[in-house]
Amino acid sequence: MKTSRPFTVLRVSIAAGIYATVALVAAVSTRPPGPTAQVDHGDAVYVGEAVCIACHKTQNNQFMHTQHAIAFRQNPKNQLQAQSCEACHGPGSNHLKDPANPANRTALIGFTREWGTPVEKQTSMCLACHQGSQAMFWPGSTHATQQLSCSDCHNPMAKISATGLLKKPTINETCYTCHQQQRGEFAKHSHMPLPEGKMSCADCHNPHGSPSKALLKADSINELCYTCHTEKRGPFLWEHAPVRDNCLNCHNAHGSNHDKLLTVARPFSCQQCHGNPGHQSTLYHAGNIIGGGAAVSSRVLGRTCQNCHVQVHGSNHPAGARFQR
Ligand code: HEC
Ligand code: HEC
Ligand code: HEC
Ligand code: HEC
Ligand code: HEC
Ligand code: HEC
Ligand code: HEC
Ligand code: HEC
Ligand code: HEC
Ligand code: HEC
Repeated sequence: MKTSRPFTVLRVSIAAGIYATVALVAAVSTRPPGPTAQVDHGDAVYVGEAVCIACHKTQNNQFMHTQHAIAFRQNPKNQLQAQSCEACHGPGSNHLKDPANPANRTALIGFTREWGTPVEKQTSMCLACHQGSQAMFWPGSTHATQQLSCSDCHNPMAKISATGLLKKPTINETCYTCHQQQRGEFAKHSHMPLPEGKMSCADCHNPHGSPSKALLKADSINELCYTCHTEKRGPFLWEHAPVRDNCLNCHNAHGSNHDKLLTVARPFSCQQCHGNPGHQSTLYHAGNIIGGGAAVSSRVLGRTCQNCHVQVHGSNHPAGARFQR
C-alpha cells in the first residue's frame, strides 16, 4: 500500500510508537476512493478475513450487510479494499499471537475508546480512502481538534442507519449523543423542523469541517439561510439593515420559545435597536399597557410593530421605506 496519487499526500510516520509528523494536504477527490495512506504497521502482515471471522463471527454477521463489506467483497477496486477487515484494522498477524492480552492491544488498530489506539491513527485509516469530498476540511476542524474519531459518529460494523453508516438510526440522534443543549433548543415551542424529520443538522453543518465558523455549510450565516429561504435574499428596493447584516440579529438558528424563532419577544425584539423617542419606544405610556389605560395599543398586541411594519425583511413597494407594504 505504498501507492500515492499526485496532489495528495498523507504521511503518517511513527517513530518508536510516537507520532513524528502528520502532514496532510487533501486536494483532489475522486470516488470511489483509493488507498493513499502510508501507515506504518511495523512487522505485521495481512492474514486475510477468513482468519478474523473464525473468532469474530458475530461481528461479521452484522458487518456483511454494510456498504464496505459489499464493496470490498464483491468488487474490490484495489489491493487495500481486498484486505477487508484489515483495510481498517491494519494487518492482523501480531493480534493473533495473543488476542486476549490487553498488553497486546497495540498490535491492532481498534476504534473503540477502551482499546486505546491514538485517535490520529484511527482517523488516518479512514482518511486513507475518504479524504477530499466531505472530509476535505477535517484537519484542523473543531471536531478533529476536539479529538473526535470518525467512529464517534460512524459505526461501519453494522447497518444501523439507512444512510451514512452512522452510530445511531438518524443524523440528529447521532449529534445529540454529545450536543444535549441543542436537543433542548429543538424542543422549544418554535423550532426548525428537525424533530419532525424534515431536516437534519447536516443540512446546515458539515460535521467533518468547513472553511467558515460553526462548521457551517455556507460562507456566512445569511448565505446559509438563503439556500432555503431564497425570497429573503432580495434584492429589495428598501433594505432593512439588520436583515442584510445577519439573520441572527433577530432569529435563533435552532429554536426559541418566542414566535418564529425570534431571540427576543416582540416588540422588544424591535426596540432593542429602535429606542428613539416617538411611537417606537412609547410602549410604557399608560395607554399602551394592556389593562392600564383607556385603549390598548396595537404596538403591544398580536404581531406588535408588525401590525403596521409588515415587510420587516425588506420591501419592494415604491412607498415601502417604512416596511409597511
Ligand atoms: C484467535 C481468535 C482471534 C482471531 C483469529 C482474531 N481475533 Fe480479534 N480479538 C480476539 C479477542 C479474544 C479479542 C478481545 C480482546 C480484548 O477484549 O481485550 C479481540 C479483539 C478484537 C478487536 C477489538 C477492538 C476493540 O476496539 O475492542 C478487533 C477490532 C479485532 N479483534 C479484530 C480482528 C481482526 C481484524 C482479525 C483478523 C486479522 C482478528 N481480530 C482475529 C480474538 C481473535
Ligand atoms: C470500514 C472499516 C472497518 C472494516 C472494514 C471492519 N471494521 Fe471492525 N470496526 C471498525 C470500527 C470503526 C469499529 C468501532 C465500532 C464502534 O464504535 O463500536 C470496529 C469495531 C470492531 C470490533 C470491536 C467492537 C465490536 O463490535 O465488538 C471488532 C471485534 C471488529 N471491528 C472486527 C472486525 C472484523 C472481524 C472485520 C471484518 C469482517 C471488521 N471489523 C471490518 C471499522 C471496520
Ligand atoms: C480501503 C478503503 C476504505 C477504508 C479504509 C474505509 N472506507 Fe469507507 N468506504 C469505502 C468504499 C469503497 C465505500 C463505498 C463507496 C460508495 O458506495 O460510494 C465506503 C463508504 C463509506 C461511507 C458511506 C456509506 C454511505 O451510506 O454512503 C462511510 C460513512 C464510510 N465509508 C466511513 C468510513 C469510516 C468511518 C472508515 C474508517 C473506520 C472507513 N470508511 C474506512 C472505502 C473505504
Ligand atoms: C461529528 C460526527 C461525524 C464525524 C466525527 C465524522 N462523520 Fe462522517 N458523516 C457524518 C454525518 C452526519 C454524515 C452524513 C450521513 C448521511 O448523509 O446520511 C457523514 C457522512 C460521511 C460519509 C459519506 C458521505 C460522503 O462524503 O460521501 C463519509 C465517507 C464519511 N462521513 C467519512 C468520515 C470520516 C472518514 C470521518 C473521520 C475522519 C468522519 N466521517 C467523521 C458525521 C460524522
Ligand atoms: C462525540 C461527541 C460529539 C458528537 C457525536 C458530535 N459533536 Fe459536535 N462537537 C463536539 C465537541 C466536543 C465540540 C466542541 C465544544 C462545543 O462546542 O461543544 C463540538 C462542536 C460542534 C459545533 C461547533 C463548532 C464550532 O466551531 O463552533 C458544531 C456546529 C457541531 N459540533 C455540530 C455537530 C453535528 C452536526 C454533529 C452530528 C453530525 C455533532 N456535532 C456530533 C462533540 C461532538
Ligand atoms: C437551520 C440551520 C441549522 C440547523 C438545522 C442546525 N444548526 Fe447548529 N447552528 C446553525 C447556525 C447558523 C449556527 C451559528 C450560530 C452563531 O454563530 O451564533 C449554529 C451553531 C451551532 C453550534 C455552536 C454553538 C451554538 O449553539 O452557537 C452547535 C454545537 C450546533 N449548531 C449544533 C447543531 C446540532 C447538533 C444540530 C442538529 C441537532 C444543528 N446544529 C442544526 C444553524 C443550524
Ligand atoms: C435546509 C433548509 C433550511 C435552511 C438552511 C434554513 N431554514 Fe429556516 N426553515 C426551513 C423549513 C423547512 C422551515 C419550516 C417551514 C414550514 O414549516 O412552513 C423553516 C422555518 C423557518 C422560520 C419560521 C419558523 C416558524 O415558526 O414559522 C424561520 C424564522 C427560519 N426558518 C429562519 C431561518 C434562518 C434564520 C436560517 C439561517 C440560520 C434558516 N432558517 C435556514 C428550512 C431551512
Ligand atoms: C429585524 C429582525 C429580523 C431579522 C434581522 C430577520 N428577521 Fe425573519 N422575521 C422577523 C420577524 C419579526 C418575523 C415574524 C414575521 C411575521 O410575524 O410576520 C420573521 C419571520 C421570518 C420567517 C417566517 C415567516 C416568513 O416571513 O416567511 C422566516 C422564514 C424568516 N423570518 C427568515 C429570515 C431570514 C432568512 C433572515 C435573514 C436573511 C431573517 N429572517 C432576518 C424578524 C427578522
Ligand atoms: C439589530 C438592530 C435592529 C433591529 C433588531 C430592528 N431594526 Fe429596524 N432598523 C435598524 C437599522 C440600523 C435601520 C436603518 C436606520 C436608518 O437607515 O437610519 C432600521 C430601519 C427600520 C425602519 C425604517 C426606518 C427609517 O428611518 O428608514 C423601520 C420601520 C424599522 N427599522 C422597523 C423595525 C421593526 C418593526 C423591527 C422589529 C421587527 C426592527 N426594525 C428591528 C436596526 C434594527
Ligand atoms: C399603528 C401602526 C404602527 C405601529 C403599531 C408601529 N408603527 Fe412604526 N411607524 C408607523 C407609521 C405610520 C410611521 C411613519 C411612516 C412614515 O413617516 O412614512 C412609522 C415609522 C416608524 C419608524 C421610522 C422612524 C420614525 O419614528 O418615524 C420606525 C423606526 C418605526 N416606525 C418603528 C416601530 C416600532 C419599533 C414599532 C413597535 C414598537 C412600531 N414602529 C409600531 C406606524 C406604526
